[in-house]
Amino acid sequence: MRLTTAQVASYRDRGYLIFPGLFAGAEVALMRAALPALFDERRPENFREKASDEVRSAFAVHERSDVFRRLVRHPRLITPAVQLSDGEPVYVQQVKINVKAAFAGDVWQWHQDFSTHHAEDGVPLPRPINLHVFLDDVTEFNGPLMLIAGSQRTGPIAANLDTTTTSYPLWTLDEATIAKLVANGDIVSAKGPAGTLLIFGDTMVHGSAMNMSPWRRAIFSLIANPVSNAQTTLRRPEWIHHRDFTPIAPLADDCLLALAERPAAIAG
Ligand code: SIN
Ligand code: MN
Repeated sequence: MRLTTAQVASYRDRGYLIFPGLFAGAEVALMRAALPALFDERRPENFREKASDEVRSAFAVHERSDVFRRLVRHPRLITPAVQLSDGEPVYVQQVKINVKAAFAGDVWQWHQDFSTHHAEDGVPLPRPINLHVFLDDVTEFNGPLMLIAGSQRTGPIAANLDTTTTSYPLWTLDEATIAKLVANGDIVSAKGPAGTLLIFGDTMVHGSAMNMSPWRRAIFSLIANPVSNAQTTLRRPEWIHHRDFTPIAPLADDCLLALAERPAAIAG
């Protein structure tokens, strides 16, 4: 899926792109079918919420499930990621599902992904691209991501490590910074049906409120980083920030449905 010139220009200006329902119902059904088994696993890759046993984030799902093994190589993700990386090949830096369970899904404080990538992993430049595929319908009720449009143009902003408010440590931004950014931009709520693709970059300021609704909000996330911008610090576990800098070779566009048709085929 090649982006148009207008889409690239909009990404540079607003900092994000959204493609409602890009993945078909049958493709989303395959992804959703893999979730219960992944979330049932008791392993460090599954972060649970502070106040409940619900999974908050399931990391490295591309190493734990055939459908997500293929999704990280999907041309609808990788072609735009390479294009937005000025044609440079990208590798898999991080893969997770951020769940936000019904009634229990907790907040993600305002942050730029680059703060964590730089401070924890020594990623030199804010070039990673975050590609989200909605696994549930995301509405105003179940904790959509909020993005501050245009905030990415500010570049990296000083952040503080938050280890207390949620179960997952994150470098976050203070309220004065957010108020200033919002005065110069608008907050966009990233909503759409299951199968929607959302793309944003490493300096996009974003966060999300808790999920008070009876509807789960699960979102798959691949962070793809240009090979020349690989991490320089190996502090965090491999499953949280991957160390195989091999460029991603995209599969065919029908690679997910092919899995359903030929379940015995070698998982690619
Ligand atoms: C969220 O899932 O609401 C936030 C995820 C992110 O920070 O990328
Ligand atoms: Mn983030």
